[in-house]
Amino acid sequence: MRILVIGSGGREHTLAWKIAQSKLADKVFCAPGNAGISQVAECIDIKTEDIPRLLEFARKEKIDLTVVGPEASLALGIVDEFSKYKLRIFGPNKKAAQLEASKVFAKQLMAKYNVPTADFKIFENLDEAKKYIEKRTTPCVIKADGLAQGKGVIVAKTVDEAMQAVTLILGNKIFGDAGNKVIIEDCLEGKEASILVFTDSKEVIPLASSQDHKRIFDNDQGPNTGGMGAYSPAPVVTNTLFKEILEKIIYRTIDGLAKEGIVYKGVLYAGVMLTKDGPKTLEFNVRFGDPETQAILPRLESDLLEAMLATSEGKLNKLSSLGGLSWMNRACVCVVCASKGYPGSYEKGKQIFGLEEAAKMEDAVVFHAGTKKLTSSGGGEPKIITNGGRVLGVTGLGNTIKEAIDKAYQAVEKIHFEGMHYRRDIGRKAMEGL
Ligand code: AMP
Ligand code: GLY
Repeated sequence: MRILVIGSGGREHTLAWKIAQSKLADKVFCAPGNAGISQVAECIDIKTEDIPRLLEFARKEKIDLTVVGPEASLALGIVDEFSKYKLRIFGPNKKAAQLEASKVFAKQLMAKYNVPTADFKIFENLDEAKKYIEKRTTPCVIKADGLAQGKGVIVAKTVDEAMQAVTLILGNKIFGDAGNKVIIEDCLEGKEASILVFTDSKEVIPLASSQDHKRIFDNDQGPNTGGMGAYSPAPVVTNTLFKEILEKIIYRTIDGLAKEGIVYKGVLYAGVMLTKDGPKTLEFNVRFGDPETQAILPRLESDLLEAMLATSEGKLNKLSSLGGLSWMNRACVCVVCASKGYPGSYEKGKQIFGLEEAAKMEDAVVFHAGTKKLTSSGGGEPKIITNGGRVLGVTGLGNTIKEAIDKAYQAVEKIHFEGMHYRRDIGRKAMEGL
């Protein structure tokens, strides 16, 4: 089979790496890809949101399955466009992608179908939002409705912070039209976990649990990022809790969508807060998590491509009757190495050293995110240089979480680029049962 993966991050490197291991995969392409992806797939210079060119490529190259990494392409309706030409594609259609693309849509659906989440109100008018904040007595979280590259959520500790957030979003339109509406919701307390499932709307097959580390610095300090590391499984998600999350959050959401006439096919990711009143939904994503994918997929024993085909064809019941997906009874930890300045502004173009040494290590894999191959004009060995904020996802497997942490950090120590920084506490929560 001929597969096209869309995206250029660590998540897409992991997807392409795992798909390339499938007995069904003859050839893997990636658009646009990165330096690491080019080791497992042929990279094509087409941007993730250029749907007409992606479509043209898939038709010309007779692609059997396209796998969409980023949410923006899904929100633009890439699945609907490919489906018009009967091209197989993994991911939800435009209507279903609203679950991530509009937080207002997601919250209203949750309210209608009794999916546990923080109590909330929706505002379009700045003065009304401010009046509401003044009257509140508890901390709140402000969320821009639309896609804001992970920056649209502000956990406001004080009234001033909340006022500033609504002013920036509704007044100054810092997120453009994505901030035409805001949600103001109660602040939840507890431990967080990421629960991802494959679904074809009729059947649900869970992936292994995981946990992200969103803040830039150790001990969850500093600003939010796209994710600085992850581990799988998340021991905090016991079997009983996993079942409760599936029943109260995942099934109710997929059934709710179906009742609204929306068929959800693809991977559904619920960000969950485990509160003292039970699990509550923080957000939905309509795609794989990044860097959760880097910690989840190395543990997958089943054929990823088979599962994706079954999902996109609406045949997950077959996989389900065979017992679902099988997982290694090992832990996996991914440590993200970032450029100096990230998540603020950062420089690109720094040469990365030590990748080959790290690649030789057993039980370690280096997934590339913001990297680029630089071919020298003199004909020497190409260099790998930094090309983004999150540069690498250095991943270790181990029989225990401690072993996986040690392995990941041993591999990190072999790698170096100017300004490289990373958290030193990835996975510690899993060890301490925090
Ligand atoms: P989201 O993009 O909605 O997942 O939000 C990003 C991060 O903000 C989450 O991972 C949480 O750490 C935090 N967050 C979002 N909503 C809430 C909430 N209602 N209460 C507390 N923290 C929240
Ligand atoms: N790691 C968080 C996300 O993928 O949205």
